[in-house]
Amino acid sequence: MTILHIDSSINGGNSASRAISRSIVDQLMIENGGGDVVYRDLAAEPLPHLTLDAFADSSVLDEFLAADTVVIGAPMYNFTLPTQLKAWIDRILIAGTTFRYTANGPEGLAGGKRVIIALARGGFYDANSPAAALEHLETYLRGVFNFIGIEPDFVAADGLAIGPEQRSASIDQALGQSVRLAA
Ligand SMILES: Cc1cc2nc3c(=O)[nH]c(=O)nc-3n(C[C@H](O)[C@H](O)[C@H](O)COP(=O)(O)O)c2cc1C
Repeated sequence: MTILHIDSSINGGNSASRAISRSIVDQLMIENGGGDVVYRDLAAEPLPHLTLDAFADSSVLDEFLAADTVVIGAPMYNFTLPTQLKAWIDRILIAGTTFRYTANGPEGLAGGKRVIIALARGGFYDANSPAAALEHLETYLRGVFNFIGIEPDFVAADGLAIGPEQRSASIDQALGQSVRLAA
């Protein structure tokens, strides 16, 4: 098993998405009796915004293609993903490699990988909540990975900005879910 572990929160040691993504990776390693982990911290070492020249460098894409399992820590910033994570997405959605357009529409070419995404959100965005229409993190990431042929799993800690008790309960629930998911 080769795991690509990606974090994107700017919150360092106080980050919920980092704690949950780490728990998922730890559990996967336990369940599979080890494996290789490649770690990419997009906050500590940001990828530059996409340029035409950047398409010549396939190192980020190659790292993604080499992994059979991808674990991503994804906090919600301003109702969507951090720009650091978007810069990574810009390097893995490559026509002809991870997807292609056919006469029948787009076709994903990156199937066969397991992708698990640890979401951390300050509020609640359930389907019937008043803020549901502002949820552009989980919906976006699901759409992106579906587009390249992958159905991602999500572990979510929500309501983290409501107060300390809600935060603690939400993170505990997500950590518990990460154990079940890895099993
Ligand atoms: C710059 C910034 C923007 C944020 N925007 C939102 C937002 O639009 N909606 C929301 O529910 N929470 C928002 N939050 C709260 C974060 O989603 C929440 O603090 C979450 O825990 C961040 O993940 P992390 O703990 O892994 O850093 C924002 C936080 C920051 C720092």
